[in-house]
Amino acid sequence: ERAAVGTSHAKAILFGEHAVVYGAPAVAIPLHALTATAQVTERPAGTHIHSALFRGQADDAPARVQPLLEALYSALRRTGHAGQGVDLRLDSTIPYERGLGSSAAVAVAVARAVAALEHHEFDAEDIHAVAMDAETIAHGKSSGLDPRTVASAVPIRFLGGQVSPVSVGSRLDFVLADTGRAGATGKAVSAVRRRLEAEPDVVTPLIDRLAELAEIGTSCMASGDREALGAHMCEVHRHLAELGVSDLTLERLVDAADRAGAMGAKLTGGGRGGCVIVLARDEEHAEHVEVDLRRAGATRTWRTAVEAA
Ligand code: MEV
Repeated sequence: ERAAVGTSHAKAILFGEHAVVYGAPAVAIPLHALTATAQVTERPAGTHIHSALFRGQADDAPARVQPLLEALYSALRRTGHAGQGVDLRLDSTIPYERGLGSSAAVAVAVARAVAALEHHEFDAEDIHAVAMDAETIAHGKSSGLDPRTVASAVPIRFLGGQVSPVSVGSRLDFVLADTGRAGATGKAVSAVRRRLEAEPDVVTPLIDRLAELAEIGTSCMASGDREALGAHMCEVHRHLAELGVSDLTLERLVDAADRAGAMGAKLTGGGRGGCVIVLARDEEHAEHVEVDLRRAGATRTWRTAVEAA
């Protein structure tokens, strides 16, 4: 019985969420502490799924599992796999619908597992194509930022579908905190689009400024200017709130981070629920920020550091 495993990790966006949909640059970091692992095993016939969301035959899978199935079928098609059935077991520690890229990470893990099973060389573009197929089902049209970040071991700058590594001048200690409220990326993206159409004079300058902030943020990271980096993260949050994708739960956590002396804090990903990302002063401060964010209502928190590189 042939079997193979593929893995991927979560992501957090520092600059450019929403604006990236309109061609703005974005900066995002991998979250290695949260992982998705897919195991595929050949079986005589049929597709069988074991995941936290669903266990059973693919034909009976509910709508929430469709992105996972799309990733599987897309990957199998691209390897030229024919005939045999597949058993897909998914273990993910990435919370769903929290702006952490769970759907993209699951798709990349599945693509890697299927490629390994079929002894097929998938390059970065093949993996990306599979993840985009799954993201289209999960969220509607995706900029491609999430699939690129969950497939990258290092922080990336993303522009027009192209990625490059971001240089980092000094170690950055981040805290992520979950509002406990599910976000819906697809809905948030359509809401911003509707506002852009209704009020282009208000929304276009916000998107332009978010694009500028992604460029400024990239240079702050490179020069290791954490003070400026944090201040610009705060500015991004204000503009995202003006775009209408923040909410009370996110505002409460951003305020708590501010009171805890964080250098910067913002919502991350699609918003309207989901998570905030906070830049702490150092590792020790990050631990304090975590405690304060939990006191302010965060249901879960994680710490991650980006090393100078
Ligand atoms: C979602 O993590 C990021 C958004 O910019 C959507 C996208 O890039 O497709 C909100």
